[in-house]
Amino acid sequence: MWNKIGLILIILFATFFKANCQIDTSKNGCANIACHGNLISQDVVHDAIKRGCDKCHQSNGQPHPQKNVQTFTLVTNIPALCYKCHDENNTGRVVHSPVQKGNCLACHTPHSSPESYLLKINPTGEVCAQCHKLESAQKRFKHDPVAKGDCAKCHEPHTSEFDKLLIKEPPALCTKCHKPQAEELKMPNVHPPFQNNCLNCHNQHSSNEEKLLDLTTQNLCVSCHDDMQKKIDKSTTVHGAITDKRSCINCHSPHASNEKRFLIKDVKTLCLSCHDRTYTTGPRKVANISQILQKSKNIHGAIEKVGCVGCHDPHASSNPFLLNKAFPSGSYAPASKESFALCFNCHKSELIEKQVTTTATGFRNGDKNLHFVHINGEKGRSCVICHNPHGSNNDHLINDKTQFGTWEMPLKYQSTENGGSCAPGCHAERKYERVTVIPDTKK
Ligand code: HEC
Ligand code: HEC
Ligand code: HEC
Ligand code: HEC
Ligand code: HEC
Ligand code: HEC
Ligand code: HEC
Ligand code: HEC
Ligand code: HEC
Ligand code: HEC
Ligand code: HEC
Ligand code: HEC
Ligand code: HEC
Repeated sequence: MWNKIGLILIILFATFFKANCQIDTSKNGCANIACHGNLISQDVVHDAIKRGCDKCHQSNGQPHPQKNVQTFTLVTNIPALCYKCHDENNTGRVVHSPVQKGNCLACHTPHSSPESYLLKINPTGEVCAQCHKLESAQKRFKHDPVAKGDCAKCHEPHTSEFDKLLIKEPPALCTKCHKPQAEELKMPNVHPPFQNNCLNCHNQHSSNEEKLLDLTTQNLCVSCHDDMQKKIDKSTTVHGAITDKRSCINCHSPHASNEKRFLIKDVKTLCLSCHDRTYTTGPRKVANISQILQKSKNIHGAIEKVGCVGCHDPHASSNPFLLNKAFPSGSYAPASKESFALCFNCHKSELIEKQVTTTATGFRNGDKNLHFVHINGEKGRSCVICHNPHGSNNDHLINDKTQFGTWEMPLKYQSTENGGSCAPGCHAERKYERVTVIPDTKK
């Protein structure tokens, strides 16, 4: 509004002085609208104009005005001209090429402009685009300030102490806008590449991947963690949590965490955040572990003490069920500690090795080891026929039912102070009783 009124006033003023192009360069007579008024008619007028046209222009002696004859020269060359009033902006460690060459007018107009900072075009990005064709245009995702053409939010247009004319170096450059990431940098466990340089994983301008990532998540992670890729490649089972799109970041924070190994939650909560449902993969069902644990009076000490990774590899494994040590996938296996290496990582293998014992196991009738009875020879029974490795309502983690072919056979296990009993479908009710060995004190 006021601009318009100003313009009308200038026009009135101009009509009054029409054909009166007196050259009083120090008093801006030249800006008379009939002559060069258009030069200062834009919103943002260079403050230098107030000080007079002669701060920058001088007559070369020729009468003025004349068609197609140069009657004025600049008082001195650019950039020296600009540096008469402005601090030199070509002195930093890194100087932008057009500034170095004194080409201020590649980006600025000397008189007035519709844009702030006397820029020739808006937004800033358009100014830069005169010379820089960023590959961003072709990419699916553009960083917000790049899309808006706010190049100067990250780059100094003139000179900088940092490479690539950056205002600051990452991560400080990035965290000035990204406050949550600034907080993450203060967490107890910080991923080294996050601390060092955000550009280890993100592109500053644009990307075809979400979140401006350089690569898909898994490829990104294994670009440094190549051991993990090797392990995945040579394993027969790769965890479903890795093969989906989010892959590694289903479990790890790429930035930082309160948990060790940058896990997003403590291990048990993490695993149960997915295993709180039944997964169906082909003909197979993967049991709802959360439900098993909730329904169980007794939880395996391994879970309480070590967590799920006490037995499972979270990434990949060549053992069945992603187990981290050998364990049979079916109901039978040769009776040896190697077959059940998983369990004997924490439990003593004499449990199945000593045929007669009063110490190796509580599962005995007198001194007859009933673990040995069930687990010997080439067709030893797997532990999971009787035990649930996760939890159970029965004592000693004994299953309610066990898979027998296609039949879910009930075990009807009862424990007693000195033993127990079961009445499975495969034999009649059997009892076992540990006899306390009374030391023979007779001579
Ligand atoms: C801050 C310095 C500065 C001031 C003050 C200044 N000019 Fe200029 N002027 C320039 C520069 C720089 C150029 C471009 C010269 C070139 O392209 O070589 C220019 C160019 C011109 C031109 C050439 C045509 C054009 O549009 O490029 C005219 C006419 C002109 N100025 C008139 C004026 C008038 C009238 C005033 C006072 C109202 C004025 N100038 C004040 C720096 C200034
Ligand atoms: C006679 C002194 C003088 C000269 C010569 C001069 N300027 Fe300025 N310029 C000023 C003053 C005064 C201001 C306003 C105060 C400030 O921002 O420093 C200004 C402001 C600017 C601004 C900021 C405008 C804004 O919107 O904030 C730019 C850009 C600029 N000048 C560029 C130039 C360029 C390019 C040259 C050389 C072609 C030049 N100046 C020469 C005095 C001058
Ligand atoms: C590559 C484009 C480009 C060139 C070349 C350039 N400038 Fe600038 N200049 C800018 C931009 C963009 C801004 C606004 C910065 C911002 O948004 O913070 C600016 C701002 C300014 C300002 C006001 C703010 C400040 O930094 O003091 C001055 C004065 C200025 N330029 C002078 C010059 C002079 C003098 C030259 C030549 C020696 C020059 N510029 C060359 C792009 C340029
Ligand atoms: C008049 C042409 C021109 C304009 C306009 C221009 N640049 Fe440049 N810029 C160059 C040249 C030439 C180089 C040096 C050659 C190169 O590395 O590509 C350069 C280099 C750069 C670099 C790399 C510096 C380094 O250390 O490697 C950055 C960053 C940059 N420009 C950003 C910008 C930004 C941001 C703008 C807009 C504010 C802009 N440029 C506008 C010509 C220009
Ligand atoms: C969010 C901050 C940010 C914004 C916004 C930004 N840049 Fe950059 N730019 C960077 C960083 C960081 C680098 C350095 C990359 C490196 O070291 O590999 C860079 C590098 C560059 C380079 C050097 C060549 C290259 O591509 O690596 C040019 C040219 C450049 N930017 C131009 C621009 C232009 C033009 C814009 C506006 C359209 C812009 N930048 C906006 C952060 C930014
Ligand atoms: C001038 C402010 C600014 C700076 C500086 C800045 N960003 Fe951003 N960035 C934004 C805005 C705004 C968004 C979009 C809103 C959001 O998701 O927070 C964004 C989004 C992002 C995203 C998410 C993109 C998506 O698709 O959700 C990433 C990743 C990112 N920035 C990384 C960086 C990195 C790395 C740097 C430093 C090189 C950086 N940013 C510097 C403002 C900035
Ligand atoms: C090791 C690789 C890596 C490094 C280094 C890294 N990031 Fe990220 N960043 C990621 C991944 C992967 C995502 C996607 C996370 C997701 O989707 O949950 C992401 C997401 C983001 C987002 C989007 C967050 C959101 O909630 O959408 C921002 C912003 C971001 N990063 C900023 C940064 C900043 C700032 C730095 C440097 C201080 C940085 N990143 C360093 C890998 C990295
Ligand atoms: C630029 C290289 C780089 C990228 C990309 C990278 N990391 Fe890392 N990462 C490291 C370095 C360096 C360490 C610390 C040294 C070590 O323990 O291997 C580390 C450590 C880790 C650790 C802890 C290892 C331990 O033994 O304590 C985990 C977990 C991790 N990174 C996961 C990821 C995930 C997930 C991604 C993908 C989002 C990723 N990393 C991407 C370099 C990288
Ligand atoms: C299902 C969750 C989950 C997924 C998905 C996952 N991890 Fe892990 N990762 C873990 C857990 C839990 C640990 C800690 C194991 C421990 O403490 O023994 C770990 C440990 C690590 C370590 C430390 C060294 C090691 O071998 O224990 C690295 C490195 C690592 N992960 C990288 C990755 C990479 C790369 C990906 C993607 C290919 C990935 N992780 C996917 C849960 C996961
Ligand atoms: C003591 C070792 C051990 C611990 C600790 C353990 N598991 Fe298991 N897990 C096994 C064994 C053995 C199997 C194979 C079960 C079978 O044959 O029925 C298995 C199977 C699974 C399966 C596949 C189930 C199916 O139906 O195919 C999932 C899922 C699973 N475990 C998740 C977990 C989670 C989550 C945790 C932590 C809460 C955990 N496990 C802790 C030993 C363990
Ligand atoms: C992001 C979700 C997610 C998380 C978190 C997760 N899992 Fe899984 N897990 C799956 C899916 C999906 C499957 C089914 C895989 C398939 O397609 O065969 C699976 C399968 C399994 C299996 C059976 C593998 C087989 O082939 O027999 C085990 C064991 C397992 N997960 C253990 C764990 C453990 C231990 C953790 C914690 C370290 C964990 N999971 C965390 C999604 C997850
Ligand atoms: C990571 C170590 C670890 C692994 C591996 C492990 N266990 Fe355990 N197990 C424990 C701990 C700890 C307890 C609790 C012992 C206690 O409270 O004295 C326990 C207890 C048990 C009990 C219950 C004892 C009772 O009388 O209540 C059974 C049964 C059992 N484990 C069977 C197995 C089987 C079968 C395997 C292999 C599939 C296995 N364990 C693998 C650590 C482990
Ligand atoms: C035929 C069913 C059956 C099989 C097969 C079986 N167990 Fe047991 N197990 C039991 C019973 C019953 C108890 C409870 C003994 C008691 O009353 O204290 C038990 C107890 C245990 C205990 C607690 C300590 C002890 O020995 O009393 C552990 C540990 C154990 N079993 C591990 C295993 C492992 C490892 C396997 C596989 C190698 C396995 N069991 C196979 C029935 C079985």
